Amino acid sequence: MRFAFSALTAAASASLLLAVACTAAPKAAAKAAAKPDLPLGRSVYTRECAACHGPDGKPAVPNSPDFSLKSYQKSVKDAQLTKATLDGGKTMPPFKGKLKPAEVPAVVAYVRTLGKK
Ligand code: HEC
Repeated sequence: MRFAFSALTAAASASLLLAVACTAAPKAAAKAAAKPDLPLGRSVYTRECAACHGPDGKPAVPNSPDFSLKSYQKSVKDAQLTKATLDGGKTMPPFKGKLKPAEVPAVVAYVRTLGKK
């Protein structure tokens, strides 16, 4: 009986440890994803993107999408915005390697705010 009890305790504390180890990392990642760095995004956008996409998301060059439209924002997924930012387009230069890894999700999150006004 005593053996069974201690085995149970050991198993319980082992799974507790495992649970703690497993939840810590995804929680941190979820927090980062839920809280994009908008001030960073705004400064990157102003520096790198506003010349073509307009400070308020209204295009300043031909063929650029209108980020200020809710209908546009609804029509694209974050993954597409991220890919376009990294790879560029026919006219748009690629920003892969030019932006720091943290700047990419930040600027995408900032682009999202342009359509909410
Ligand atoms: C030299 C002008 C220019 C600059 C600078 C520029 N873009 Fe663009 N962007 C465009 C044009 C034009 C398009 C339309 C596709 C094309 O023809 O290249 C575009 C397309 C996009 C798209 C495509 C969305 C879709 O509907 O698929 C995204 C997202 C985007 N730009 C984000 C950015 C971000 C973020 C920056 C700054 C880091 C940036 N752009 C800088 C001109 C520019």
